[in-house]
Amino acid sequence: MTQDLVQQIEELKSRRRAVILAHNYQPPEIQDIADMTGDSLELSRKAAMTDASVIVFCGVAFMAETAAILNPEKTVLLPRPEAGCPMADMITAEDMRRIRAEHPDVPIVTYVNSTAAVKAESDACCTSANSIRVVSSFSDAATVYMAPDQNLAKFTALHSSKRILHWNGYCPFHHALQPEEVLVQKRAHPESLFLAHPECRPEVLSLADQVMSTSGMLRFVNESSHGSFIIGTEIGILHPMRQANPDKAFYPASMKMLCPHMKKISLDDVLRSLETLEPRISVPEDIRVRALGAVERMLQIS
Ligand code: 13P
Ligand code: SF4
Repeated sequence: MTQDLVQQIEELKSRRRAVILAHNYQPPEIQDIADMTGDSLELSRKAAMTDASVIVFCGVAFMAETAAILNPEKTVLLPRPEAGCPMADMITAEDMRRIRAEHPDVPIVTYVNSTAAVKAESDACCTSANSIRVVSSFSDAATVYMAPDQNLAKFTALHSSKRILHWNGYCPFHHALQPEEVLVQKRAHPESLFLAHPECRPEVLSLADQVMSTSGMLRFVNESSHGSFIIGTEIGILHPMRQANPDKAFYPASMKMLCPHMKKISLDDVLRSLETLEPRISVPEDIRVRALGAVERMLQIS
């Protein structure tokens, strides 16, 4: 049955000249049919470079929106358009304009986990893979404002000479991880390295051997001579880690780190999207053009 579905998706995909991009947190069967899996930065880059006519984005809304910002002439599909990101909804364009009015000389760097309208009010975007580089690129600024993730802002501040002001947004699933839970895992698996995502709170990050984006973690475990790891990010990442490293051990820092928004898309949804070329994601042109400036600045820097 699944094999049947996969074959139908493959056939329709080539007929539609479509590419399937999937985030590292997507369900295993979605990652397995994707043309490319990656973190937010890699998927933005791929979306910027693809010559496919249709992009089927298996992730959450802000990721598909970023693809639409970069590709106004292409059809961008998000098989389940209600798959959102609670952190992205913690700040509005109006909040951004207020920040700008209060800090007129301060560049605003916005995490890609944000709506297109919020990106449009920003000087540059960043991801978990490049926030330090993007902030440093404002060489004339002593202070930079980061939105919406407070934890990424605090992590970036530790590695930057700049004063970082920030909005108080957070990812409910990363922010919920407590240092005590990490310590329990460390005691149970003392031989393990602890890798954490910068969306975790500072008390958790201070326990980490490495702080990195999802694809940064994947590269690290693939290349490391170490045999076991405690993973402080959404548990969907365990699938590609275990697939590429059957001899290594991976322990989730907490089984509660499950983002339900990232688990909405099924193979049936992907097939239906390819059949109907719906649901499409598009961004109003005036917002798109302004958001593009912030996304392009990020892509140029990284
Ligand atoms: P990455 O860019 O590291 O993949 O993170 C995206 C995300 O939503 C983390 O919660
Ligand atoms: Fe958003 Fe958190 Fe889900 Fe990432 S894991 S998409 S930041 S809610």
